[in-house]
Amino acid sequence: MEPLRLSTREGYDLWSALYDGEDNPLVQLESRFLPPLLGEVRGLCVADVGCGTGRWTLSLADAGARFVVGVDFSAGMLGRALAKSRELRPAPAFVRAEVASLPLAARRFDRVLCCLVLDHVLELDPFFRELARVLAPEGSLLCSVMHPAMNILGIEARFTDPASGREVRPASARNTISDYVMAAGRAGLGFEAMSEHAVDEELCAVSPRARKYAGWPLLLLLRLRLALPPRAR
Ligand SMILES: C[S@@+](CC[C@H](N)C(=O)[O-])C[C@H]1O[C@@H](n2cnc3c(N)ncnc32)[C@H](O)[C@@H]1O
Repeated sequence: MEPLRLSTREGYDLWSALYDGEDNPLVQLESRFLPPLLGEVRGLCVADVGCGTGRWTLSLADAGARFVVGVDFSAGMLGRALAKSRELRPAPAFVRAEVASLPLAARRFDRVLCCLVLDHVLELDPFFRELARVLAPEGSLLCSVMHPAMNILGIEARFTDPASGREVRPASARNTISDYVMAAGRAGLGFEAMSEHAVDEELCAVSPRARKYAGWPLLLLLRLRLALPPRAR
């Protein structure tokens, strides 16, 4: 059966009911390698852009960030995040919006996270410009994304709809590493770190789905900061 191809937003609205319960090797690998890049967040102001069901939003609030906001355009994903955050004090804020048009104040955020979203972003220039706009002068932008090598295997974000048994593919963008590097640079961002992470035994032990990609790079991580003053950007 041909996969059902939906817009990114419609795809995630449908995926939201299953997303947290799945064996997702990319999520497992990212959960291992992102925290050292993120560092201490206690007392910081943090935006989680493309927050989905709040995987990072909630843990940032729990880790003592002073203010945390999660942004996503999928009502389904945001609904899950909100339901899970009800017990948290202080609870993070959630806003429904496009990643390239954030209803957030300029230069406010010490950390901006954008996790597993970039492979859905076709227009990288306005995306990076917008994230750079909300970043505080000494802040860091952290992005995680499925490694573009997965494109060679024809792998993109997908899930199986249990109701129909059909594979569903929210629209994805086949960006390359140089696309990310060049667009970030044009937005006035410089690289503090960039790393690539392959499927290893440790991952296969916790995520059986990972085995068929053993040895392949699965995850790309970027840590960026403002390299140019706002007026020059
Ligand atoms: C793979 S999920 C990742 C969710 C979360 N960041 C995580 O790591 O668990 C991708 C999320 O990005 C959101 N997204 C994709 N493109 C977007 C856009 N243009 N504007 C806002 N949200 C977007 C989707 O709705 C989805 O919730």
